[in-house]
Amino acid sequence: MWLGIDVGTGGTRALVVDERGVIRAGFTAPHEDMRMERPLWAEQRPENWWDAALRAIRGALDEAHITGRDVRGIGLSGQMHGLVILDRENNVIRPALIWCDQRSQPQVDAINRAVGTANVLSYIANPVLTGFTLPKLLWVRDNEPDLYERVSKMLLPKDYVRFRLTGDFATEVSDASGTALFDVVRREWSAPMIEALSLDRAILPKCYESVEITGTISPTAAALTGLIAGTPVVAGGGDQASSAVGNGIVELGIVSCTLGTSGVVFAHMEQVAYDPSGRVHTFCHAVPGKWHVMGVTQGAGLSLQWFRTQLAPGTNYNLLTAEAAKAPPGSQGLFWLPYLMGERTPHLDATARGAWVGLTAKHTRADLIRSIIEGVSYSQKDCLDIIERLGVIVNSVRASGGGAKSPFWRQVLADVLAKPVVTLETQEGSAYGAALLALVGTGVYASVPEVCHHVIQETDALMPSGAESDFYQDGHSLYASLYPALKPIYQRIARL
Ligand code: XUL
Repeated sequence: MWLGIDVGTGGTRALVVDERGVIRAGFTAPHEDMRMERPLWAEQRPENWWDAALRAIRGALDEAHITGRDVRGIGLSGQMHGLVILDRENNVIRPALIWCDQRSQPQVDAINRAVGTANVLSYIANPVLTGFTLPKLLWVRDNEPDLYERVSKMLLPKDYVRFRLTGDFATEVSDASGTALFDVVRREWSAPMIEALSLDRAILPKCYESVEITGTISPTAAALTGLIAGTPVVAGGGDQASSAVGNGIVELGIVSCTLGTSGVVFAHMEQVAYDPSGRVHTFCHAVPGKWHVMGVTQGAGLSLQWFRTQLAPGTNYNLLTAEAAKAPPGSQGLFWLPYLMGERTPHLDATARGAWVGLTAKHTRADLIRSIIEGVSYSQKDCLDIIERLGVIVNSVRASGGGAKSPFWRQVLADVLAKPVVTLETQEGSAYGAALLALVGTGVYASVPEVCHHVIQETDALMPSGAESDFYQDGHSLYASLYPALKPIYQRIARL
């Protein structure tokens, strides 16, 4: 058996998979809520991820009726971009600033001034964004100098769990790509970035390809988890690259759309290509020697989660989407802008905020929910459009993540994207991808495409329905005109 462990935002999931890729059990341990001390700030405690990982591993082993002796390899996946900093005794110095934290615009500006915007693009193939790890590190330097002085290691979320499992400081190319300190073309830490900012290279972990073994379970972790000391731990991937492996997006032609807390449209690339204005990310893929491009909606599932928590507590998501289905397409002229945590693709604007535009006394709660599903889908179309303009051929979109569990949301997505939306037999995404990387890393399969061909099956395809899809193309053009109109207002709100 092989284990895939995904350190998500809402929880950590451990999945038990056999050598044919069949899932034997899965167990999710929820995390504490993210701490949002101010609007657009978001923190989580790495120690809580570790506790959740312990519970998830033990839960998955129990549920599969196996022991650690049956586990031959482990792969890791996790939320990207988060800043974990450790002191010389390997204690966590402060809670992690996680992927959706947007506080670091002054540091992004300072990096661009120090390095030069054009140089940044040539060093890391991406612009520096507030969500990336480097400006978060510099935020700590600028605002908490006493804490910064103690920094001895910087890790990404899943790599903190790796450290607790194996004692090794390691990461891999797909997650390192999201730090803004990584040369995505050469697949190594960017020496010119590190030098230009006078950073200490020694705080960065060793970087591997995603299928390489980075270490083995330590005796301490074995005692806590029930795993056996010496079990190999494979590098794995950032949650998006791992989810792409779990969805078979490891060759040209198929694109995925993952509707988790964030929403991501993801395409495989054989060669590096990047959007000159950096609206989509060009990162290393978990397939050795390959790359990917992805567009990110910050508040995808988060939009519906926010709605549920604030306006429909206790209602489950199935009831919410069933209610939305009762509203007409277009939600009677109501538009939702999903910018609850600023926005990446296509606006790259940390000051953007969510909004309903077009609300009238006639609107019902069903319209509110439907407009959220439509607004998030429009935002995913923004991502897909840029990716197609980079020359990526898109025949169909493989949907996964919590949002894609709803056939209603999948149909809206097919109509808005005007593409067939396909689901797979295995809907596990990131944790599954991590387990598949472990199968390759421990030598059961020769390559990532090989394991994907063996284990991934399409089940269901929803076609865009003519009239509604046409209607949504007009809806998307109206949606796209709302952000530019609101941009000056967002800037005034940010100055308040
Ligand atoms: C990707 C990204 C999110 C997080 C959380 O760039 O920020 O997908 O990894 O899932």
